[in-house]
Amino acid sequence: MPMKVALVTGAGRGIGREIALRLAKDHARIVVHYSGSEEGAKVTAETITAAGGEAVTCRADIAKRSEVQALFAAIDARFGRLDIVVNSAGVSAGGALADLDDEQLEWMLGVNFRGPLYVASEAAKRLGEGGRIINLSSSLGEFPMAGSGAYSATKVAIKSFTESWAKELGKQGVTVNTVIPGATAPGMMDTAPPGFRAFFEQASPFGRIGTASEIAEIVAFLASPQASWVSGAHIIANGAAST
Ligand SMILES: NC(=O)c1ccc[n+]([C@@H]2O[C@H](COP(=O)([O-])OP(=O)(O)OC[C@H]3O[C@@H](n4cnc5c(N)ncnc54)[C@H](OP(=O)(O)O)[C@@H]3O)[C@@H](O)[C@H]2O)c1
Repeated sequence: MPMKVALVTGAGRGIGREIALRLAKDHARIVVHYSGSEEGAKVTAETITAAGGEAVTCRADIAKRSEVQALFAAIDARFGRLDIVVNSAGVSAGGALADLDDEQLEWMLGVNFRGPLYVASEAAKRLGEGGRIINLSSSLGEFPMAGSGAYSATKVAIKSFTESWAKELGKQGVTVNTVIPGATAPGMMDTAPPGFRAFFEQASPFGRIGTASEIAEIVAFLASPQASWVSGAHIIANGAAST
């Protein structure tokens, strides 16, 4: 049986990189998507190929539908198949409601809301029996904080996408699920404002934040044949933190 092909968005750094490396261990050929992190994407791909796997890098701003269409056209040309799609790329910004910043709002709506929709729309034309879509949400969608309203809303929307797409794409044998990370590093927590990391460490009874590889393990399970009956589900991984 030919090896599966997995697209991981935002795989040049953070959680996306760990997911790409983990899926490669399960022998998937990996499309390492990036937007600005060209060097990071090369490192991800080289790490996979150095371990005997296969990976290509592909750039697209997922907030732009035409760029997402070009990304999928490149995957068609290179592999002629697609089995697993992981919507990991995402951005966050926060601030007081009274200081609402349109630029930040458009940025989050573009990357966190329209981006996964554009990606899934192209994926829906290609994925068949055994196909997988795995969407990354955020525990800040479950437990919004003061100042996180816009980001939290874009991430909780992901759960709605998952439930709708699971019903629609189940008919073609595709499962769709959400992974909901809590504070995680490497990833966004590395660039969070001072004090955030300590806050999230204390919020978990484990006294720490999560690791990107812990998130990648859940994605690997959902991508595997063993998860064939799991669809429309949301798996939270935040070390029992109420944040
Ligand atoms: N880390 C956490 O604490 C945490 C917690 C909860 C949920 N999450 C979620 O987990 C996912 C991964 O987050 P992370 O921690 O890995 O974030 P990160 O390290 O900040 O990386 C953000 C990723 O998004 C990509 N991206 C940004 N703008 C893009 C655009 N216009 N088009 C395409 N890709 C774009 C970046 O690609 P380039 O660098 O190539 O531009 C990068 O790979 C996100 O959906 C996030 O909401 C993270």
